Amino acid sequence: MQKTIFITGTSTGLGKATAKLFQSNGWKVIATMRNPEKETELSQLKSVILLPLDVTNVEQIDSTVKQALATGDIDVVFNNAGYGLIGPMEALTDQQIVRQFETNVFGTLRVTQAFIPYFRERGKGLFITTTSIGGLIAFPFGSIYHATKWALEGWSESVAFELNQFGILVKTVSPGGIKTDFISRSLDTSSHDAYAASLQKLYAGFNEDYFTPADQIAQVVYEAATDGKDKLRYVAGADAVALYEQRLKIGDEAFRRQMGQTFLGNV
Ligand SMILES: NC(=O)c1ccc[n+]([C@@H]2O[C@H](COP(=O)([O-])OP(=O)(O)OC[C@H]3O[C@@H](n4cnc5c(N)ncnc54)[C@H](OP(=O)(O)O)[C@@H]3O)[C@@H](O)[C@H]2O)c1
Repeated sequence: MQKTIFITGTSTGLGKATAKLFQSNGWKVIATMRNPEKETELSQLKSVILLPLDVTNVEQIDSTVKQALATGDIDVVFNNAGYGLIGPMEALTDQQIVRQFETNVFGTLRVTQAFIPYFRERGKGLFITTTSIGGLIAFPFGSIYHATKWALEGWSESVAFELNQFGILVKTVSPGGIKTDFISRSLDTSSHDAYAASLQKLYAGFNEDYFTPADQIAQVVYEAATDGKDKLRYVAGADAVALYEQRLKIGDEAFRRQMGQTFLGNV
């Protein structure tokens, strides 16, 4: 029996790589994105249905989820749409902060809520959410992005308790750096003269050469969708695994001091 996954944010990056991987493994894929009319690759693939979805648009969530369910059963919902926001807290506008939460947090919560009654009545279903290693640790100057991803980790851990009794599983995939449009196109930023030197040091500390290709992170999403395990958290990518292991090994306080020293040490 063919299985179906519903994915948000499939125009590029991890969402697109995941859509292609599941399709190539025989799944039906409901690939949602803000501008499906511009998509030229996924639209050519068998068993891929494109639907419009901006996760900040409440009415569209309702209509798109209805359309998706009208195409047949859905087994997995992959909340992936999101983007990063970097900059000193005092220089962020209220609009930047609200948009970050609207997309990364409220978008995920609302899409999930739209599917819960269906999964509960069906007696099974799986929610997977792309969080980030930044939902388990923190880098300097990412306070609001971290707030959104820590929110998703905590929310997932809690909502799993109430949904498990209905056969619904909740999982997170927490990637490290991924080679996508995340930094090149999608990133929102702010700057402030008082923080210029430390921001510059932070940016110098990131090397995208060490980021993981999106198709490898998509493999972790596939594992989470198919391993049948009662497991919440899938840390994905060698960098993320190493960072998280280090935090668990040396403890929160030592890890926090180490991160400050590594990224801002001599400022
Ligand atoms: N790349 C990394 O280093 C990294 C690391 C950890 C976690 N992540 C997480 O991975 C997820 C995917 O990001 P990516 O790395 O694949 O970056 P990406 O290539 O920039 O893709 C982001 C996707 O999210 C979509 N999106 C943004 N706002 C949206 C909205 N309001 N409604 C619907 N879709 C929206 C984008 O659509 P448009 O084309 O319309 O903008 C795009 O399809 C995000 O949740 C991100 O936080 C990324």
